[in-house]
Amino acid sequence: MKTNRWDDHYARRAREENWLARSVYKLQEIDKKYKIIRKGEHILDLGCYPGSWSQYAIEKAGQQGLVAGIDLFRPERVVSANFIFLLADVFEVDIEWLFNELGPMDAVISDLAPKTTGVRSADAGHSLLLAKKAADISFSILKDGGRFVCKVFEGEDVRSLRSLISSHFKLVRLFRPKATRKRSSEVYIIGLDLIR
Ligand SMILES: C[S@@+](CC[C@H](N)C(=O)[O-])C[C@H]1O[C@@H](n2cnc3c(N)ncnc32)[C@H](O)[C@@H]1O
Repeated sequence: MKTNRWDDHYARRAREENWLARSVYKLQEIDKKYKIIRKGEHILDLGCYPGSWSQYAIEKAGQQGLVAGIDLFRPERVVSANFIFLLADVFEVDIEWLFNELGPMDAVISDLAPKTTGVRSADAGHSLLLAKKAADISFSILKDGGRFVCKVFEGEDVRSLRSLISSHFKLVRLFRPKATRKRSSEVYIIGLDLIR
């Protein structure tokens, strides 16, 4: 039988455990290490489609929690009374309007990723713009002490993103989860304890 190179251990496990994508295991690992999502919290999930991070956040935040997702595509299979979705391009979202709609958030998690072209430097540049946008949103929408997780493709300017995030959070870490595919250049930047 032919094996599909994308159908790895994590993809099979995600299907067995009813997660909408294998990327859930990246968030799970980050959350175990850095305690990003807690019971009763309000979480903003940027680039939420197809929905595994939202599923995980809904489960972790529990019945008193709230998860708001934003994406260009509607995550139709995420069904929960504690989930709200905004169909939007993050570059076009009015952050002040978003804050008025949602109120302050405990954590912003961003798995935003561009459609890759195969040209590594172009993909890294696009990913960096998405990550900077996610960081901007987090600075405006997080409560004091809030937490931020953001995917970015490694490239020349990741250092500038890290220092931008360092100017708003007490602790900043770069993390590469085990579930990240070997040939992927993605890393996650974690910001803990937002300061204004
Ligand atoms: C890797 S996927 C996210 C997977 C998701 N975390 C999950 O676990 O199911 C990246 C997402 O970013 C979204 N995205 C990319 N550019 C965007 C933009 N400008 N505005 C909103 N969403 C965007 C894509 O549509 C895609 O669904």
